[in-house]
Amino acid sequence: MSGLLGIEDLDRGFIQSILDRAADFQVKDGGSTFQKLNTLQGKTLVNLFFEASTRTRTSFEIAAKRLGCDTISITASGSSVSKGESLVDTLATLAAMRPNAIVMRHAASGAPHFLQRHLNIPIVNAGDGLHEHPTQALLDARTILDRRRSLSGLRVAIIGDIAHSRVARSNIHLLSKFDAHVVLCGPAPLLPPELARLAPGVILTTDMREAIQRADVVMMLRVQLERITEAAFPAGEYFKFYGLRAEHLHLANPEVLVMHPGPINRGREISSEVADSKASMILNQVENGIAVRMAVLERILQQ
Ligand code: CP
Repeated sequence: MSGLLGIEDLDRGFIQSILDRAADFQVKDGGSTFQKLNTLQGKTLVNLFFEASTRTRTSFEIAAKRLGCDTISITASGSSVSKGESLVDTLATLAAMRPNAIVMRHAASGAPHFLQRHLNIPIVNAGDGLHEHPTQALLDARTILDRRRSLSGLRVAIIGDIAHSRVARSNIHLLSKFDAHVVLCGPAPLLPPELARLAPGVILTTDMREAIQRADVVMMLRVQLERITEAAFPAGEYFKFYGLRAEHLHLANPEVLVMHPGPINRGREISSEVADSKASMILNQVENGIAVRMAVLERILQQ
């Protein structure tokens, strides 16, 4: 493994090994924080974020530090990108400083793949445009497996702005590789039919109640207003048709897990009542983000 660019090209055995290793890093009963190890002592990680992030950037940094790895975080606004430096020149400059890996988020789909072809340094994709967000899918799988024995046979409804979601794409790939049944749901302008071809058996519906019916997991997605140029639906209507409320949970499996990659918009795609309910895994996902990223960094940096 050189870096981690997406879930699509990973095999099931590799994904399972990352999920199993992440479980070793989880905070166990009675623990107050993640273990401090020195397995990556002497290594340096650059976190390069061209788009905003709270969870991914912070958790990569904490994960690296818990393993003894030095980290440097750079945002586009604080770098010479704001002075017109190109992406290739920026990455080549950082690579010349000899970090051991670069974690990168970029608005352009395929940006990390392009750079990986030009640089002899592992690149970890922390979200590229509308394409993939592999560590999010891994931490989502870890979160489900903390509560369910297997992903196989689970009905997972992914609801919201599917069109602009790299989280949805990575989860479709991962869940399908493990034989879960994926249902995609959203308003028609945000639900591209071609996504049904990403993996066998993926179902699309614009009816939120149909999607949630007998669901074992409901993953809600934010409407990515920053990527939408024309209003896809009348303002104020979204929550009425696609906002998750307590009444919906009665349609699902009684033990349903409610997930959301964050950031959540209360009252737009999810009610506070559901976000703060016992079914909500939202903060468990955030916590697992550190364990999963420790497992990914260990794998990449110990090569
Ligand atoms: N889930 C996620 O990618 O969150 P951030 O944008 O805060 O990193």
